Amino acid sequence: MVDKKILELIDKMTLDEKIGQLNQEGIRDTEELRQRIREGKIGSIILTNSSTAGNEKQQAVMCELLNELERVAVEESRLGIPIIFGRDIIHGHHVVMPIPLATAATFNTDITKKAYRVIAKEASNEGVQWTFSPMIDVSRDPRWGRCVEGFGEDPYLAGKFAGAIIEGFQGDNYDAKESIAACAKHYIGYGAVEGGRDYGKSEISDYTLRNFYLPPFKEAVKSGVATVMSSFNEISGQPVTSSRYLLNDVLKEELGFDGFIVSDWYSIAQLINQGVAENDKDAAMLAANAELDMDMVDKCYINNLSELVSEGKVSEETIDRMVYRILKIKSLFGLFDNPYVTPETIDYEEHKKIAKQCSDEAIVLLKNKNNILPLSKDEKVGFVGPFLHEKRSHLGTWSLDPDISMVSSISEEVRKCSDKAVMADSMYLWDEILMSIKTVDTVVVLLGESFKVTGEACGLVNIELPVEQLEYVKKIKNIGKKVIGVLCFGRPIGLLDADMYFDAILYAWHSGTMASKSIVDILYGNVSPSGRLPMSFPRKTGQVPIYYNYPLLPRDSSNYYDGYSSYHDVSGMPMYPFGYGLSYTTFEYGKPVCECKHLTLDELKNGKCFEISIEVKNTGNVDCKETCQCYVNDKIASMTRPIKELKGFSKKLIPAGETKTFKFKLGFDELAFYNAKGEFVVESGEFLVYVGADCTTTENITICVE
Ligand code: NOJ
Repeated sequence: MVDKKILELIDKMTLDEKIGQLNQEGIRDTEELRQRIREGKIGSIILTNSSTAGNEKQQAVMCELLNELERVAVEESRLGIPIIFGRDIIHGHHVVMPIPLATAATFNTDITKKAYRVIAKEASNEGVQWTFSPMIDVSRDPRWGRCVEGFGEDPYLAGKFAGAIIEGFQGDNYDAKESIAACAKHYIGYGAVEGGRDYGKSEISDYTLRNFYLPPFKEAVKSGVATVMSSFNEISGQPVTSSRYLLNDVLKEELGFDGFIVSDWYSIAQLINQGVAENDKDAAMLAANAELDMDMVDKCYINNLSELVSEGKVSEETIDRMVYRILKIKSLFGLFDNPYVTPETIDYEEHKKIAKQCSDEAIVLLKNKNNILPLSKDEKVGFVGPFLHEKRSHLGTWSLDPDISMVSSISEEVRKCSDKAVMADSMYLWDEILMSIKTVDTVVVLLGESFKVTGEACGLVNIELPVEQLEYVKKIKNIGKKVIGVLCFGRPIGLLDADMYFDAILYAWHSGTMASKSIVDILYGNVSPSGRLPMSFPRKTGQVPIYYNYPLLPRDSSNYYDGYSSYHDVSGMPMYPFGYGLSYTTFEYGKPVCECKHLTLDELKNGKCFEISIEVKNTGNVDCKETCQCYVNDKIASMTRPIKELKGFSKKLIPAGETKTFKFKLGFDELAFYNAKGEFVVESGEFLVYVGADCTTTENITICVE
């Protein structure tokens, strides 16, 4: 619905005032900034001060300054249009939730939505009105440092987390004090950069773009995302920032996105580096004509659009549409009615409880030989390794405002839990480390990577356990200890060379403020692990990209990993597959059931669904959560289709000895794909529906669309 009030406001605006709304600048406490606001030259302010803000120290959010700048905009500019303040509130503010990749490992969108509501509450309380999150780039490459920011390799999973996070940030009432505008990024194909090299080239066919990279954005639009950020990369020779086809035709017209698009940091000016624009003016013309609405920090719009309009190279109607979209979001989020913020006292203890639930569910038990875990509190166990006293890296990249005083180390949590634990006296002196664990049978080795090698511009060539850490593990194993590895990484790693030295592996990611408490609770059995992998884990780096939803192949698809398409030097199998994770119990799966296995295409189009159910029994003696997963394969189609695609997942607590029924609905959207003409179609014929504990499940039934 068109907002008449905004149209009336636009009628009153001069061309320069309109262009001012399209301009985002960096925060600074200067009279010069106040003057620019007064003159209507600024529509938004970004509260970061460097291009790769995720791992660099940023100025804290200064609430009084924001109120003051807002006052200048509202009271001293001619039309009183409020500024929208944006900051990268990615996976936490003062209380930090697990990194997004670990959040995906929870397979729990309900707790995720609550967690992001909490984040919005903390950030909005200090004047942040807009966040550049969620990052929903599908990624099949752990070398790419930014895979930490997304939800892994699967479009369906990424879409569901996109929805939960957007709903968490934006709430039911967008204009509520604690609601902030979300931003789905980076549109599109950024996660496919070749070789995991950040800002590199993405080679993506239209088919792959639509079927793998677009679906999370489609979900984001369905969830009402207020803004979308264009990505740095190019596709098929066209930088996304200047692609009218991708920004306007696909995103706005086809998907129906009606919020506004913001460029990434300097990405309009970088069209010059990419060689498609000669200068700033040229770059501004391309981006504006692609209907990219707001310019992040490079001033290409504010410095050039007026001239471009007078020369007839960008029409004023285009500018009007861009301004309309920005003002509409400002209005929806209540900025015209309540531009200022009055901070309230926040109950951080409540927020920490939610963060704890998230980290409890994010951590994945990969291996547990002879049920060595959980540990007994009465047992003498050694604790060693570089993450023994670590705090900051648990928070991960893109933690701009963490309250580090809320974070505990693993050693501190172990102390609280067991007085029998033996902590290594030294982190570095081998003789001392070995002496301190001399009398124990079992050693927990706390390993990982710094947050500083994850995130933006943080590619790695080798994603295996670092050699010095492998040596560490070997040494301890070689003196006859049982070794439990706790691995704190911001990406999947290759574990082939290390796996044999571990009796158990707990993959703890960078799981936020409550990470250490969750790790120790899981080690000692206060919490049963329930995380599942959102990305396939390779054995060796050379297997990358490795993903479960590869297409049916000319030879022996069912044996893709270890058949003709494999390697001669290492098994082609993932070390740990997508969807995988253990618990402290065992689950017995029944057979999938579907009462009505035939539906016509018309019935599907009219909203009918195949209803699949399966019973799962907890056959152990510990209450545990299980994540049941439903995959689909379109047996014969006009184009090659994936051997399996996730189309449903559900996580439930199953008390020991009890059985729970999991249900999945497969309708038009779950069975459809984008065909060669770019049409979203269901093709009649048979589909295999697999239901099980991870992507390797073979249990299936056949359904048929007639
Ligand atoms: C560049 C990053 O690519 C983007 O994700 C981030 O939101 C902006 N910088 C702003 O910090």
